[in-house]
Amino acid sequence: MGFAAAILLDGSAHLQELNVLPAHGRRGLGRALVHHVARWAVSEGFSSLSLTTFRHVVWNAPFYASIGFVPIPAENQRPEMRKTLAKEAEKGFDPANRVGMRWTFGSRERAADRTNSR
Ligand SMILES: CC(C)(COP(=O)(O)OP(=O)(O)OC[C@H]1O[C@@H](n2cnc3c(N)ncnc32)[C@H](O)[C@@H]1OP(=O)(O)O)[C@@H](O)C(=O)NCCC(=O)NCCS
Repeated sequence: MGFAAAILLDGSAHLQELNVLPAHGRRGLGRALVHHVARWAVSEGFSSLSLTTFRHVVWNAPFYASIGFVPIPAENQRPEMRKTLAKEAEKGFDPANRVGMRWTFGSRERAADRTNSR
C-alpha cells in the first residue's frame, strides 16, 4: 500500500522517500508513515527529521508543513542536504521548485516515544 524510507543525512534522520499507492491515498497512510519514521528517529536519539520535496505540490511541502516541517533557509543547509539538492538539480528538478525541510521534534513527539517504549 505504501512505504517510507529513512537514511542518515548530515548525521541526522532524513526521510528519503514516501509513497502511498493512489488507490489507498487520502486515508491518512502518508501522515501515519511520517509519524512512524519520526518515532523511529526519536527512539534513535535524533532531535529532528529532514527531507527534500516539491515546494508547491499540495501533497508535498504543504502536507509536510501541516505535520510540523519548516523550510530550511539556504544559509542553514548542512553540506549533505546541499549536495542532495544539487544532485536533484542535475537530474533536471528546477531548484526554484525544490525545498529542504526540517521537523524539529517537540515535547509531544518525545513523550509519544516514551509512551511507546513502556
Ligand atoms: C504524498 C503521499 C505519500 C501522501 O499519502 P496519503 O496516504 O495520500 O497521505 P494522507 O492521506 O496522510 O494525506 C495527507 C494530506 O496530504 C494532502 N494530499 C494528499 N494527497 C492529495 C491530493 N491528491 N490532492 C490534494 N491534497 C492531497 C492533503 O492535505 C492530505 O490531508 P487530507 O486528506 O486530510 O486533506 C502520496 O500522495 C504519494 O505517494 N504521492 C506520490 C509520491 C510523493 O509525492 N511522495 C512525497 C515526495 S517527498
